Amino acid sequence: MPGMTTTNHNRPATIEWVGDAASGHLRLIDQTKLPGALEYLDCQDVGSVWHAIKRLSVRGAPAIGVSAAYGCVIGAQAGTFGESADYLATSRPTAVNLFWAIDRMKGLGTADPARLLDEAKAIHAEDAAMCDAIGRNAMRLIKEGGGVLTHCNAGALATAGIGTATAPMYTAHDAGRKFRVYADETRPLLQGARLTAWELQQAGIDVTLICDNMAASVMREGKIDVVITGADRIARNGDAANKIGTYNLAVLARHHGIPFYIAAPTSTFDLACPSGADIPIEQREPAEVQTAMGHPLAPADVKVYNPAFDVTPAELITAIITEKGVIEPVTEDAVRGMVG
Ligand code: MRU
Repeated sequence: MPGMTTTNHNRPATIEWVGDAASGHLRLIDQTKLPGALEYLDCQDVGSVWHAIKRLSVRGAPAIGVSAAYGCVIGAQAGTFGESADYLATSRPTAVNLFWAIDRMKGLGTADPARLLDEAKAIHAEDAAMCDAIGRNAMRLIKEGGGVLTHCNAGALATAGIGTATAPMYTAHDAGRKFRVYADETRPLLQGARLTAWELQQAGIDVTLICDNMAASVMREGKIDVVITGADRIARNGDAANKIGTYNLAVLARHHGIPFYIAAPTSTFDLACPSGADIPIEQREPAEVQTAMGHPLAPADVKVYNPAFDVTPAELITAIITEKGVIEPVTEDAVRGMVG
């Protein structure tokens, strides 16, 4: 994005292209191993990129989009750009950044790996710049001495930069502001516990882990001034899909008179989606709920319902913070005005 600068916080790169266009490959932090181990996954073929997205080795809407863009380059190296792009689009259904990035790669109208790599690198760099801009636009939400609640991981691990929901936290922290972050653990896959708590702790930000069912009490105790989460897809009326449990927080926040914000880049908006009811919600395996990190938690054959995302209606969202500015109040006109 011309004129935008990005911040290097000396974190390990969530996503990296290694080598040249002809024979290079995609390197990802394997997020299934965190926080126990910081390990990298080298994806040399399209199948391994698809599986990395599917099993959440790389996850978070913007990071999925950037990874798929690089996956398209790997497909082009093998002479299968078109089929590879279509295949990558089947990895996960909800985060619109996946389809946005693949459409952008296809829109170049070439299968030349060198040109595709340039575009993937541009998507990567723009995502980092969008995170920085979200940080600047949302920093005012973090008050000196205040408490912030977040859900899942919309952090550096979910993007190519400083995250979306975490962007104002990193920006305020860099500016010397003191505040506390409460991170929901985020069952079933514990992105809040494993990833958000890890990355904020690494950055020296004061983070406290809570179980998902503690949010109401923590709000009533006056510990939370603001809730900020990311989004996987935002419909044109402002309804926002994000990790299952986000809707709970928005309802609780309204009850307690606490503002609830979504932080997301414009690549997360889907203007073709009239409302949240039109957003496809990923259903995942029962084993994710029946077990925790491989350990049984329930009878093996118990019936399970495991939607990975829920939709927060626009009327519960105080504002949506994008890299271009703030959508407040959240209405279809305001979304169209900001996103196009
Ligand atoms: O299933 P996940 O871990 O990919 O879900 C991620 C989220 O719900 C994030 O909040 C969202 O993608 C925004 S990431 C900036």
